[in-house]
Amino acid sequence: MGKIARIVSGKPSADDIPLDSSLRPRCFDDFIGQTGIKDNINIAIAAAKGRGESLDHILLYGPAGLGKTTLAYIIAAEMGVNIRITSGPAIERSGDLAAILTNLRSQDVLFIDEIHRLGRAVEEVLYPAMEDFALDIVIGKGATARSLRLKLPSLTLIGATTRFALLSPPLRNRFGAVHRLDFYDHKAIELILKRSATILKIKAEARGLAEIAGRARGTPRVANRLLKRVRDYAQVIANGVITKEVAIEALAKLEVDNVGLDEMDHKLLHTIIDKFNGGPVGLDTIAAAISEESDTIMDVYEPYLLQLGFVERTPRGRLATPLAYEHLGLPYNKKPPQPSLW
Ligand SMILES: Nc1ncnc2c1ncn2[C@@H]1O[C@H](COP(=O)(O)OP(=O)(O)O)[C@@H](O)[C@H]1O
Ligand SMILES: [Mg+2]
Repeated sequence: MGKIARIVSGKPSADDIPLDSSLRPRCFDDFIGQTGIKDNINIAIAAAKGRGESLDHILLYGPAGLGKTTLAYIIAAEMGVNIRITSGPAIERSGDLAAILTNLRSQDVLFIDEIHRLGRAVEEVLYPAMEDFALDIVIGKGATARSLRLKLPSLTLIGATTRFALLSPPLRNRFGAVHRLDFYDHKAIELILKRSATILKIKAEARGLAEIAGRARGTPRVANRLLKRVRDYAQVIANGVITKEVAIEALAKLEVDNVGLDEMDHKLLHTIIDKFNGGPVGLDTIAAAISEESDTIMDVYEPYLLQLGFVERTPRGRLATPLAYEHLGLPYNKKPPQPSLW
């Protein structure tokens, strides 16, 4: 029982806990940007409500910190139903998932974060639950085993993943809607910072917030984190107001450069360039060289470096582009690969 309670309550990442309780938007009106996705989901919600049915299953994917978890909460709130939070790695056995499913109430939202990490056997329990609101239970073993189908209350599964490609096709196909969240533009990040500054009662000039926005990697979670760090700096070193100058000084102290790259991004780029002659070099090799998990590199650092065009994924590994050399102030003198002799 204790185990089920733990699974149902979910495990937010350490990053989420202090920051998100106050800053996480609770309704669509507060959710800035991603207008296409919002419009689509709003229509789906209105239609489902109009029919008195549960909302179709939704898959949200995209880099970390862009608002997937937030959207799941908002969808449940707008539907007026409960939400149960769990994650792929937290559901170890199919029995764990069965327990969660049988404890849902009609039309509830089940949110599975990192859904690409669900085990195969667990995933198979999910198929009939998604398709027929049913749970297939096998009773007995061997020749006397028989399968029993239990009816479940209707439910909406919301899955979130940073790795769309790792989802099995049968699971992918069972979602009625698939939405890809993209990095936010400068304007949207500025609005998010403005909202957060108001909530946290931070005194900030527009130009100060603009400076932070420019280095937030198009990511709301990063924007909010930088805002808090710059606020600390303003409070201790300046007179508590985030001006442009204060923001620039604070961000320099935090080693966040003018496009938002931090120490770790620099380490990553320098590793590819200095140690591996600009690549191509395999992800695992990079990970070992900088003592970081490959998964963290793929989920946290790489998406933005790809977006900036500083890194390229090739079949033979990661490649630093001329843009990356330029950004780091290094000469790009790599020769194009020699054509093989024949
Ligand atoms: N569209 C948005 N508008 C305002 N704040 C946002 C938005 N999206 C995300 N945030 C902020 O960023 C934080 C991280 O979002 P989250 O939903 O946890 O991202 P993900 O689940 O995709 O990693 C949230 O707590 C919230 O404060
Ligand atoms: Mg999340």
